[in-house]
Amino acid sequence: MINRRNFIIRTAALVSAVQFPALSLARTSATEFELIAGPARKKLFRPDAEASDVWAYNSEVPGPEIRVNKGDRIRVRFTNNLEEPTSVHWHGIRIDNAMDGVSGLTQEPVQPGASFLYDFEAPDAGTYWYHAHNKSWNEVGRGLYGPLIIDEPEKPFDDLHDITLVIDDWRLRQPGVLDTESFGSLMDWSHGGRLGNWITVNGEPAPAMVLKRGEAYRLRLINAANSRVFEIDPNRFDAKVLAYDGQALPEPINLGYAPAMLGPAQRMDLLVVPRESFVLEEVSSNDPLVMAEFKVEGDAAAAPATPPLTINAIPEPDIANAQRVKVVMEGGAMGGFVEITYQGKKLQREDVQSTRQTWAFNGVANLASDPQFVAERGQTIILETVNRTAWVHAMHVHGHHFRVISRSGSEVDEGEPWRDTFLIGPEQTTNIAFVADNPGKWLYHCHMLEHAAAGMTTWFTVA
Ligand code: C2O
Ligand code: CU
Repeated sequence: MINRRNFIIRTAALVSAVQFPALSLARTSATEFELIAGPARKKLFRPDAEASDVWAYNSEVPGPEIRVNKGDRIRVRFTNNLEEPTSVHWHGIRIDNAMDGVSGLTQEPVQPGASFLYDFEAPDAGTYWYHAHNKSWNEVGRGLYGPLIIDEPEKPFDDLHDITLVIDDWRLRQPGVLDTESFGSLMDWSHGGRLGNWITVNGEPAPAMVLKRGEAYRLRLINAANSRVFEIDPNRFDAKVLAYDGQALPEPINLGYAPAMLGPAQRMDLLVVPRESFVLEEVSSNDPLVMAEFKVEGDAAAAPATPPLTINAIPEPDIANAQRVKVVMEGGAMGGFVEITYQGKKLQREDVQSTRQTWAFNGVANLASDPQFVAERGQTIILETVNRTAWVHAMHVHGHHFRVISRSGSEVDEGEPWRDTFLIGPEQTTNIAFVADNPGKWLYHCHMLEHAAAGMTTWFTVA
């Protein structure tokens, strides 16, 4: 098996010519935005390389930053200028189900040339993102994603000290253009997903930015990659963790371990008070890759006050009275033979080519007509996920945040922080708990988008 992790192309030099790209706003008024999906051209590789054919929101990759205040009602007028249907999902928002943007479950996909008005409240402050949710493996992989930032009522960091970093990996071929032919490769679907060989941050390779010495900054890291887990060590630049998946920790923490894994769709907000210039690196190989560079200038300021972030009011699970649900993950390469039911029929080996289904939850690939489980509104769900595959997965619950309450083979993070996506290793079992308080039909799927398409998607209802 090829481990593409080892084949990432290294950026030419530490000091990149690229200035740190600011993310533009799609605002038409304080809470109204216009978003148009369509084909675009984007230079992903070195400055002298050719531009790639991508799909983008408002012709930008990442798409424009959508930013409102906690509690605001957001209206996004979305238009589809692609040649295929699409929809927009607001990842991590405890959202009105009808606005969750899941094609085929919560809405009909928006057809080419058509529009849809997304209109929802953003109940929680934090770092979120939006992305296409129809054939996500293809649409997100080509660039249809952007940051969604919900500000605290009192902003703890001003704009100059609040920096969003959307990280992606791209699969480029000669001469540095996006490899579009390999989208949908069965090999990727049954192995580790589509992994790229080129990393960008805010659409640029190894961008650089200047920070002021001794001032406090919030770095909002968003993993927008289809399937790559980025390994990051905040201790290398003395950063503390402020939040996971949008939810603030009671106080900033120093990680007692390293590296931190940032799985697909996960977010991590860091607090850094830089003394010296530093780099944000991917540290999974012996020779870390520079993803972004921070040059620190000026005289040391007095130790800054770091105001606390708003803790969102997410209902606490009632473990004693919970409904327990078990999901066993199977299949994929090196997973042995598993019996898989897809659209009501048992798959034979030869069906793999035509159905492209190789993974299953409780023996079923993809959405069955019945939900995996039904929760009473307000009931606590303890969801036990058993990973009987040879692969790591990034499991995402729509519409809810949960606490990881136990995990075989490793400890649960201190304080059981809220998350909307958790990583689960091969042969690992993880229990999460949440209050199913948001009525509607919700997905539970692997956010390695090829895995989701190849079977690792199920759904539940909250009555
Ligand atoms: Cu960000 Cu269904 O996912
Ligand atoms: Cu997966």
